[in-house]
Formats: sequence, C-alpha cells, structure tokens
Amino acid sequence: MAMILGAFVGRCVDRLSEFIGGEMSMMLGVKDELKKLQRRMERISGFLESAERKRHEDWNINSWVVELKDVMYDADDIIDRCMIEGRIVTILSENHPSTSAVRDTSSSSFFSFGYLKFQHEIGDKIQELNDRLKEIKEDRSMFPALEYTKQSARVTGVNPRQTVSIVIKSDIVGTKIEDDTQSLVESLVKEDNKKYRILGIVGMGGIGKTTLASKIYNDERIEKNFPIRVWACISQDFSEIKLLKDIIRKAGGNYGEAETKEELIRCLYSTLSQRFFIILDDVWEKDVWAKLLRYAIENAAASGKILITTRNTNIARNIGADIHHVNKMDDDSCWKLLHKNVFGDDDEEEEISGLKEIGIKIVEKCDGLPLAVKVIAGVLRSMDRNTIEWNKVLESDAWSMSQLHEELPGALFLSYEDLPSDLKQCFLYCSLFPEDSKM
Ligand SMILES: Nc1ncnc2c1ncn2[C@@H]1O[C@H](COP(=O)(O)OP(=O)(O)OP(=O)(O)O)[C@@H](O)[C@H]1O
Ligand SMILES: [Mg+2]
Repeated sequence: MAMILGAFVGRCVDRLSEFIGGEMSMMLGVKDELKKLQRRMERISGFLESAERKRHEDWNINSWVVELKDVMYDADDIIDRCMIEGRIVTILSENHPSTSAVRDTSSSSFFSFGYLKFQHEIGDKIQELNDRLKEIKEDRSMFPALEYTKQSARVTGVNPRQTVSIVIKSDIVGTKIEDDTQSLVESLVKEDNKKYRILGIVGMGGIGKTTLASKIYNDERIEKNFPIRVWACISQDFSEIKLLKDIIRKAGGNYGEAETKEELIRCLYSTLSQRFFIILDDVWEKDVWAKLLRYAIENAAASGKILITTRNTNIARNIGADIHHVNKMDDDSCWKLLHKNVFGDDDEEEEISGLKEIGIKIVEKCDGLPLAVKVIAGVLRSMDRNTIEWNKVLESDAWSMSQLHEELPGALFLSYEDLPSDLKQCFLYCSLFPEDSKM
C-alpha cells in the first residue's frame, strides 16, 4: 500500500519520542543520535505536504520524496529493532536478575556480548541514517518551490458548521435527468412483441448512469408494469455464482441446493415466469450477458426488459443494447448541485451570492461531472464560507495534476489532497477493498 509520507514521518517521530523517553535509549548509548534523528525528521516533515503535492509535476521532487521514504522505512525498522531488543533485555533481566546484564554491560556473559554487539550495530545504523537524512535535508534547498507548512497550523479539524448534518431533501438536480427518465420509462413500458429488449445507459464514470437507472427503476409505471424487478450490481470482480443467486433471490425464486452455473441458469429461467425488469448496473464485460444471462432470459416463460449501465459503449453495442448516452451536466445544474451540497437548506442568501461567482468558476472546472461537483462540495463544506477559502480551492494546483489528469478528474484528486495525511492513509487503506464490497 502506498505510504503517505507525512503520516508516516509523524508516526516515526512519535515512536522515537516514546523510545527516547525510555530507559533503553540511554542504555544503548544512542539517545543523542536518536534525538538528532528526531529533530531532523521534524524539520523535514514541514515540507512534506508541499512535496507530496508537487512530486507529480516535478520529477526531481519525486525522487527526493522516494529517497526520503526509503530512509523512513529504514528508520521504522531500526525503531522496531530497538523496541524489540528493549523488550528482550527487560524480560531477561527480570528472569535473571543476577546477570545484571542490562545495567552492567561489561559482564562477560553471552547475553552481554550479544547486547554489546547490538549496541554497536544499532549505533552505527542510527548514525548512518542521520547522515542520509542530513543529505536529504540539504537537498531540500534545491527545491525552492517547496513550501513549509507548520504542522500545528494544518487544518485538520472540521469547521463547526460542517458538523451540522445537512438534510438534502431531493438530491437530484437538472431537468435533463427528469426528461430522460420520462422518455426511457415510456419506451420501456411500451408493449412490443419481443421476448426481451436491452437498454444500455452509457457514459463516463461519475456522470450519473446509476442515478438515472435508479430513477427509472423506482418509477411507478415500471413498478406497475413489471411484477418482477431486479437490481443487480455487477462491478469488475463479480462472481458468476453469486450473481446468479442474487438475481434469482431478488426475482423471488429459490435456488435451493443449486450450486453450479448450469443449475442456477435453469433455476433463473423458471423463476422469470412473469414480466420482468432487470437492471445490471456497472457492467464491465459482455460475458455477463452472453455467457451468463442470455440463455436464461431467452428461455424464460415471460418477456421482459433489461437495462445495463456501463462506461463502455462497445460492451453495450456488443450485447445488442439500444444505447442512451448520459451527457455532461450543464454548468447551471452543476452550480445548483454544489449549492445544495454545500449550503443545504440554509437561506443565508447574502453569504451565498457573495460566493456564487467563484462557485461557478469552480464547477466549470468539474467539467460537467456531478460526482466531481459533489466531491468538491465536500471539500468546500469543511472550509469557512468566504472568498479567500473558496479561491484557494479554485486556484489549487491539484486541478491540473498533469500526470493524474487522464485517470482521475482534478476534483477527485483535489479532495484527496485536502485530506490530512493520516486520513489519506485511511483513504488508501479503504481503496484496498474490492469495489462494492462491504467494509
Ligand atoms: N442529476 C443529478 N443530480 C444530483 N446528483 C447527481 C445527478 N447525477 C448524478 N449525481 C450524483 O453524482 C454521483 C455519481 O453518479 P453515479 O453514481 O450515478 O455515476 P455513474 O455514472 O454511475 O458512475 P460509475 O461509472 O462510477 O458507476 C452520485 O453521487 C450521484 O448522486
Ligand atoms: Mg454507476
């Protein structure tokens, strides 16, 4: 897992203080060197926030960060070793008080010899670390772009206003999604002679495919027309067996002891005995249809409609779906969405109108992606409501992180960048969970 340097250095400094404060650092004769190490880490840590941000743009800063990470891993190892040795020495001295090896390092026992060897080795290692850290600290002056952030001044807390939960009555904005829902529902409930028809809602990540699909799914005309309604989330690492069981269960069937794909497919088509509407949300490969569901649906007693959402037009085309593209949200709707998510139902019109101009510029940067707008709204909610703070978001260099631009909208990167380093670490930890899994 990626290491967030700021959080890691902070942890190393804390562990060092704990160790320096204990008896063992004195006994090892490394207290002074460790203090030096701690001081250097603390000084460097002020530049880490800026370095983590700028490393994506500047290859030299990136190398500097990589080198520092290396030293930090070694430092962490050394602190571990010191702590383990400390524990061993304590246990041994408790079990053999007569050896007095801990305090009397001149004892000739084997234990004392091992201890002296360790003392010597660890002393050398700490000194070497200190030298490497000194070099890194000196190299830092080659990067005048790195800004110093006073750690205590880092805004990690939350604006008290943010703690008030904002109740958003209706999360949906824009007339486009309403119009699309109407026309798509109408076409889905229209009688035709086909056994089944597939509708593909296609568009880039975060544009609102699932949101549109769920509006359709919950429309009362859909409820009335389709006695069997199933919502199945597919994702990238879906399991065929689990998916089939899920669909059967949601369609009101019972798969009993069935465990194989063939048994479950048979069970699915006998379950689909009334008009059905099945949504397959987030399809990443055509085989979900071709190898898993097609046979069951072609053989079902009833007819029905299938709706898939996917980022990939080719998949929808391959499955034989009628395609509906979800387009980017217009700036006006984006501003409404931002407004709703930052201010909720607050009516402080004066305050809001003072921020509108910057707010509109911010949403323009979200490039019509509602997900990006909501994420940025989350960042703005945690800040004071004034033009200075909002301008900081508008001017943030995270919007144009050149390397990440292709994979990640600037808004998402910015919201990540805004997290304090310990939360960044938590965030990365969460990213280890498979998509849509329960955490
Ligand atoms: N018209 C809208 N009004 C308000 N919020 C919206 C609208 N459309 C989408 N959103 C919000 O944007 C976010 C992303 O939408 P959604 O999950 O539907 O995107 P998606 O296209 O399905 O993305 P993915 O490809 O990652 O599955 C959600 O939080 C959703 O609530
Ligand atoms: Mg989706």
